[in-house]
Amino acid sequence: MAQGRPGVRVGAHRVLRGAVLLAGLLAFGQPVLAGGFLQGHYPLLKAHEIAAMILATVVLVSLVAALLIWRPGGGPGAPARDQLITLVVIAVQMMLGFSRELIIHVPLGVGVVIMVMKNAESVWRLPLRAPSAAAPDASGLASPAEVDA
Ligand code: HEM
Repeated sequence: MAQGRPGVRVGAHRVLRGAVLLAGLLAFGQPVLAGGFLQGHYPLLKAHEIAAMILATVVLVSLVAALLIWRPGGGPGAPARDQLITLVVIAVQMMLGFSRELIIHVPLGVGVVIMVMKNAESVWRLPLRAPSAAAPDASGLASPAEVDA
């Protein structure tokens, strides 16, 4: 993991961290907006649609950042895989919303919220910098200064 371009990896990881937080907020707001619409606040359907488009854009940005972490960053490829799967599921979710297939759209929406939250958790758990193998302390573990998580 220490190979590749650390500058690109750390920069892209910072972008990814911000993007997954924003995606989490947007996804969390979707059932609220949909509920408001179902309760009779009809303009909230437009807000639900706009939030869906912003969410898809933010996940696309996350995918690009995650790809840069992998290549040329030299970091793990799992975040890119996760963001790609999430982007495809959100695209399907939006099509189901526009075609009013609520019997699938509502439960899949719950799945999207969980998926986006899990992505955020795993991206924030990933250390920002790879621990240096050069200077372990007496315990053999990296010192806190080496793992800037
Ligand atoms: C989190 C991801 C979600 C995305 C990306 C999404 C996206 C969309 C889109 C694009 C529409 C069409 C809006 C329009 O026609 O103007 C829609 C409609 C709708 N969505 Fe979602 N949605 C999500 C989650 C949810 C959830 C969790 C619920 C319910 C708990 C929900 C309930 C609805 C309802 C009730 C409609 C309106 C259908 C109608 O017009 O009869 N959505 N959604």
